[in-house]
Amino acid sequence: MSEITSMAPPGPHVEPLGVYVHVPFCASTCDFCAFYQTAPTADGVDRFLKGIADEAALVVWPRPVATVFWGGGTPGLLAPGDIRKLGGIVGGRLGGKPVEWTVEMAPASVTAARLEALKEIGVTRISMGAQSFQPALLDGLGRQHTREQIFRAYERIRSADFASVNIDLMFALPGQDEKAWLADLNEALALAPDHLSTYCLTFEEDTKLWVKLSKGQVKLDVEHEARLYETTWASLEASGYAQYEVSNFARPGHACLHNLNTWRMHEWIGLGPSAASQQAGLRGGNVADLDQWLAGVARGERVTEDRVALTPALLAEDALIFGVRMNAGVDLMALRKRFPSAPWPRVGDEAERLAEAGLAELSGGCLRLTSRGRLLADSVGTTLMDAFSEEVHA
Ligand SMILES: C[S@@+](CC[C@H](N)C(=O)[O-])C[C@H]1O[C@@H](n2cnc3c(N)ncnc32)[C@H](O)[C@@H]1O
Ligand code: SF4
Repeated sequence: MSEITSMAPPGPHVEPLGVYVHVPFCASTCDFCAFYQTAPTADGVDRFLKGIADEAALVVWPRPVATVFWGGGTPGLLAPGDIRKLGGIVGGRLGGKPVEWTVEMAPASVTAARLEALKEIGVTRISMGAQSFQPALLDGLGRQHTREQIFRAYERIRSADFASVNIDLMFALPGQDEKAWLADLNEALALAPDHLSTYCLTFEEDTKLWVKLSKGQVKLDVEHEARLYETTWASLEASGYAQYEVSNFARPGHACLHNLNTWRMHEWIGLGPSAASQQAGLRGGNVADLDQWLAGVARGERVTEDRVALTPALLAEDALIFGVRMNAGVDLMALRKRFPSAPWPRVGDEAERLAEAGLAELSGGCLRLTSRGRLLADSVGTTLMDAFSEEVHA
């Protein structure tokens, strides 16, 4: 049986297909960020656009695309003409109008001309990385924008009338107490975005903040982090934003469909350096280097690293681990139907253990984390992985 057949969903239902495009350009490198990015040059952008066209031609596009996500890097940094070119290259492969098309922007480069180009190509959702509204905290993150730029950018995005607007915020920042975090949350709420992503700062290896952590110049405090998670959840719920994942909140009808489909382990095609793909029975990430990626696609080859075959057990495991991070939980019966050969009796045992420990609830065949479980979502994931030790981790 081919890997493609093993991934096929049961019955006539067709899985939604996503496209992720990694645009690897940033004006500067933030002190916390480990995403692959490089400084934009006119020549670099031209070569990147040509590379995306080359890579798109190497991909088998099996069916119309449901959702598009341009992430980075900072896709919103591209000049309007380049946005239109990239829109043309990607748009020509979609097989119709996607239900959602997200583009990430940073406040300093949100202009009316860029927004007009994004509207023109069919973008429906803007995700803007504000991170904080407080000048000292923005400084501590090495961000290039000011609080005034966030407000100006947001106003421009709203005037351009996209169907959905997200704001990214970060918390547990060095020097940020609970009061300061609440102040940031309230400033974001006052803007009334459709969606909020709130990320707890992760000290990623080889970032400036990681160096500070390893020198003891900043400290980790997991209890403080847990308190800030709880503050976030209570405050956003009271303001009408439903939590649908550990870090994501939306007003009704504004959850990010692309991310939901990814967490449900559906298929997506990744284009660009460092972009991951999960398609046609394989998962892998493109090489995180613009020149190597370009050289590969120019000779008709996608330079993919960490390529793994998508076995039913691997997909079931990941659908569970990512699934329990969502407030809706995981419908174990539906997952069992989708991946019948996964080790379901052992999953059942681990789920019972989580329920006994007060970290999850099992009802009607659905496994949902309690608030305490959501705070410990990473270790819950590790527990669930134990069920797959023979099939996936042998
Ligand atoms: C690909 S990034 C950025 C989009 C855009 N380049 C920007 O910075 O505005 C997506 C989001 O991930 C979050 N993020 C990135 N690195 C992080 C880290 N180390 N810890 C927590 N959140 C992080 C930030 O909130 C960021 O806005
Ligand atoms: S956070 Fe955004 S702007 Fe900053 S380096 Fe990362 S991708 Fe670039």
